[in-house]
Order: sequence, then structure tokens, then C-alpha cells
Amino acid sequence: MFSFLKNTLVPLLLLSQAGPGAAASPAYPTAPELSFLYTAYVKCEGTLMESRGPHGIRKAIPIVGGNFTGPHLSGEILDVGADWGLTDPQTSVFSADTRYNLRTHDGENIFIQTSGPKSPSGQLHLRLVFETGSEKYYWLNNVLGRFMM
Ligand SMILES: *[C@@H]1O[C@H](CO)[C@@H](O)[C@H](O)[C@H]1NC(C)=O
Repeated sequence: MFSFLKNTLVPLLLLSQAGPGAAASPAYPTAPELSFLYTAYVKCEGTLMESRGPHGIRKAIPIVGGNFTGPHLSGEILDVGADWGLTDPQTSVFSADTRYNLRTHDGENIFIQTSGPKSPSGQLHLRLVFETGSEKYYWLNNVLGRFMM
């Protein structure tokens, strides 16, 4: 479950795909390199809703604030979002499914979606998708993000 996220600020490490990697060998493509994007503290509140449905147990965990700090991107997390995570009825594994908003220190808005299951080690490795109309941060629309927690 996700209980460690409730009523707390959680440090999160975010990695994003860097530019083009080394030249691929003909036999195996090289793995893309990752570069650090930011560390985030995501403030969540207690579960607002928990309901068993056709895909498992769906929760609604409000995301009410926090911040993010990195070399190219920093700012605050707005009080407008939630994690609508789902617990797989067969494995009891929780998968996060969040949507929330970032506001950069220079006033730009970024919509973010993250998703992914908790790994057997207990770590969360989330996939991230950014969306922004900001000219300055438009490059984020093409970033493939990975969130480690
Ligand atoms: C982000 O939030 C954490 C937890 O409240 C706090 O310790 C940290 O100082 C904040 N960072 C910034 C840059 O505001």
C-alpha cells in the first residue's frame, strides 16, 4: 500500500532521459543514459476514497503541496492533484496513478502524470509524463522521466 505517503513529505528522486546515447552496436542497442532532473517533496493527505471496483481497489490520495529542486527546474507543487492509485486484486501490489501541477520558481505551469507499480523491493519506480505550454520548459514535453522513491 501507499500508507507511507500519507500526511508526510516524501523525498523523491527524478531521473530523465539524457540526449542521444553512445552509438548503438549492431547487435544490441545501448541503454539510454539518465540524468538527474530534480528532487521533489510531495505532500499528501490521508485517503479520501477507497473503493473496490472492476480493476481492484481504487484510492484517492490528495496531493496538496510540496516542492521540487533541480539544476534546470525548481518550484512548488500546487494544491491541486491526487494519486488515484490502484491495488491489483491478484497480487495486492499498489500502482500509483497521479496527476498534479508544478509551478516553477519563474511562474510557469507544468502538468505532470506519474504511474507505476511498487517493486518487490518496496521501491517505487514511476513513469513520468510532463505537459506544458511554457516556451522555456517546452523541452519537458519530450522527456521520458523515471521517478525513484
Ligand atoms: C522542500 O520541502 C521540504 C519539506 O518541507 C523542506 O525541508 C525543504 O526545505 C523545501 N525546499 C525548498 C527549496 O523549499
